[in-house]
Amino acid sequence: MCGIVGYIGSSKAQDILVEGLKKLEYRGYDSAGVAVYNGGRLEVVKAKGRLAELEGKLEAAPLSGTIGIGHTRWATHGKPSDVNSHPHVDNERKISVVHNGIIENYIALKEELIERGHRFVSETDTEVISHLIADLYEGDIVRAVQAAVKRLRGAYALGVIAEEEPDKLVAVRNASPLIIGVGDGENFIGSDIPAVLPHTRDIYILKDGEMAVLTRNGVELFTLEGNIISRELFHVDWDLTTAEKGGYDHFMLKEIHEQPKAYRDTMGSRITEDGKRVVMNEVKMTADELRTIRHVHIVACGTAYHAGLVGKNVIERLARIPVEADVASEYRYRAPIISKETLVIVVSQSGETADTLAALREAQRQGARVIAITNVVGSSVAREADDVITTWAGPEIAVASTKAYTSQLIAFYLFGLYLTQTLETQEPAMIEEAITALRALPEQVETLLGQADTVKAFAEKIANHDDLFFIGRGLDYAVAQEGSLKLKEISYIHSEAYASGELKHGTLALIEDGVPVIALATQQELFEKTLSNIKEVTARGAYVMGIAPEGDQELAKSVDEVITIPRTLGLLTPALSVVPLQLLAYYASLARGNDVDKPRNLAKSVTVE
Ligand code: M6R
Repeated sequence: MCGIVGYIGSSKAQDILVEGLKKLEYRGYDSAGVAVYNGGRLEVVKAKGRLAELEGKLEAAPLSGTIGIGHTRWATHGKPSDVNSHPHVDNERKISVVHNGIIENYIALKEELIERGHRFVSETDTEVISHLIADLYEGDIVRAVQAAVKRLRGAYALGVIAEEEPDKLVAVRNASPLIIGVGDGENFIGSDIPAVLPHTRDIYILKDGEMAVLTRNGVELFTLEGNIISRELFHVDWDLTTAEKGGYDHFMLKEIHEQPKAYRDTMGSRITEDGKRVVMNEVKMTADELRTIRHVHIVACGTAYHAGLVGKNVIERLARIPVEADVASEYRYRAPIISKETLVIVVSQSGETADTLAALREAQRQGARVIAITNVVGSSVAREADDVITTWAGPEIAVASTKAYTSQLIAFYLFGLYLTQTLETQEPAMIEEAITALRALPEQVETLLGQADTVKAFAEKIANHDDLFFIGRGLDYAVAQEGSLKLKEISYIHSEAYASGELKHGTLALIEDGVPVIALATQQELFEKTLSNIKEVTARGAYVMGIAPEGDQELAKSVDEVITIPRTLGLLTPALSVVPLQLLAYYASLARGNDVDKPRNLAKSVTVE
């Protein structure tokens, strides 16, 4: 989950690398560095901390070379420090490497290289790669890299330059994302498209087991065995400004406000013009194949898993197929019962989450058909799944996922309805009613965003508390779990989400005067029971913000603050009720003076297990 950039051309590499790293900082940001071929040798500048630290060092002693590699790090092996930062070099400083991923056999390789006289300075797994390549180098960097990667076990995306060949930049991909940007007289590498977008919109997406050799005048793609690969360039038509803050103080706030658009885009052409049916051309399974599904497993991590909890509810209620939802890091290891009649749905904003990818592979290995719900076209998950439902949320930069989560919900609603109309488990009128309600959601979110000030005031009151609780039943409980994660993630306030009916079995002991509780009561059929649970906490002095359907008279009487959400079908309420919880987390984080978009210890894309 680190970020890699590389440049070869005629401009000052240092500036292009730093600019690219800024676009990738969300991938990891505990240290950064660059290596540039400068005045006949490889110069390496690294700094612990945010990119600004590195920029300061480079301003003080600029490098004028025109080929280089850069890296922004999220520590795995060894603490964040200057010495553990990338790029890494060998003892002679002949070879320099940036790496994203984990080398599983690095200890054995390190011991072997030490015996051969190499001296190591860092605690990282990456340093073995620079030494290994140097050890195998006989005047041809491409061959040396090919020989070295044969010895590596694990996940890696690599950028490599050699002092003796300053006209070549070598890139390798194995289970960690890497793209090549193709320019005019200059070429680029990046672990993500935004890193190269200011310079080119023509890219190659490397696949696992592939490498690229970049010179100033061209790019060649090879297999690791050296066979030439011919591939069409992919032209990116995103607008770069969509990846910038667009006038908001933080990416997270911008992304919360982008949700109406993300809902509309994700529904896009997937609903027939007459509003009666869902069309899912991207799902290649035939109606007969869909009818063979006996069980569904939904597998994902973090927020995407919480979307899966809603998805479980949607598919079970509408299509009447039993669904299990699992966090991906547990799924593989619990010996899940998978057969050809199992449909596995993996959900991942980035499409690069290692645990989710591993679950996908295990499911396919056992014969299941896998559908991916992902936000990144061309991501690993998208490429490996049998079918892909893309969420059109656009790039999500803030570490805390907001618009990706709600777009995942929309994807589940659409797929759930599609399955339902195919299996004919509900009346067509019901499907039409749900589609009408779905289409109303974007405007309803806009209305909801108008209550931001009430949420902000509540957030400021609770910002100094150490603990708080989210409670709800059914779908409200699923949303409560997402609200709790969001709050913890960016405000660092400890919180727990509880099924309201469970409180009396233990948690109620924690409720005392002034403890904040966020109570969701949006489900009509569960309202009375939820209200009783809310009274259990108010009776013990809790300070409660309730979330109720518009027009509510009851809940408002029992709580301290109330946020109302526009009326919709019970099944669709998560797409609305989560919005105030996102705002709550945002304003609480702001009130505590935290870095909202880059919370401590976290990274946007988690590509290690
Ligand atoms: O890219 P993914 O959707 O696979 O990421 C999964 C989780 O790492 C992610 O949702 C994480 O929990 C978010 N930071 C939560 O806001």
